[in-house]
Amino acid sequence: EMRSMRITYHGHSCVQLSSDIHSVIIDPFLSGNPAAVTKADQIRAQHVLVTHGHSDHIIDAAAIAIRNQASIIAVEELANHFAAQGVRVEAMHVGGEWEFDFGRVQLTQATHTSSIQLEDGRNGYAGVPVGFIVTMGGVTVYHAGDTGLFGDMRMIGESHDIDVALLPIGGRFTMGPKDALIAAEWIGARCVVPIHYDTFPPIKQDASAFVHALSLRGITGIAMRPGESMNV
Ligand code: NI
Ligand code: MN
Repeated sequence: EMRSMRITYHGHSCVQLSSDIHSVIIDPFLSGNPAAVTKADQIRAQHVLVTHGHSDHIIDAAAIAIRNQASIIAVEELANHFAAQGVRVEAMHVGGEWEFDFGRVQLTQATHTSSIQLEDGRNGYAGVPVGFIVTMGGVTVYHAGDTGLFGDMRMIGESHDIDVALLPIGGRFTMGPKDALIAAEWIGARCVVPIHYDTFPPIKQDASAFVHALSLRGITGIAMRPGESMNV
């Protein structure tokens, strides 16, 4: 089997994974994202994966799903939130995996919170936050979602052959570069792409320093610019 996948980075935690015939987008945050160079209505995708309910991960999810007649893949409570808006959904839970037409998806734990903003400004329950392990076109990608470092990242590394790990490095709301380096070693991915940084001042980070620190540990790091694609 030919191994190939195209990864497009849209900024923040928004990443699109494409094969010749399928395309899925994870954590679409283009509207109101100062770093994004792509508009939400330019996105063509058959599935939308969302890691948790925070607005910097779901703001364009429903609109992209509806316009593309795509389904949203999320943990059950968050899926129900979108289903109530008339979006087609595929509910899953942590540890579960499923073979979709485009490939295989497994949900992992993430150490974070998850809620949706209610109209009165309070937080609505949205289940637990997750990460995704997606295998498509023979290539396996781990999108960690928003998370702090957790010890079971070792287990993810032991039980999966990860080609590309997308790891948050912003600090403050997720792991910073120091913990992301430890995560990278544990996960053992062939390539690490930093995400969830530089979008706003509180998560400003030096991605090239992170990539250099990875290289000192024998790990390939690639800091992608918003709008940039690479073939794996
Ligand atoms: Ni978050
Ligand atoms: Mn976030």
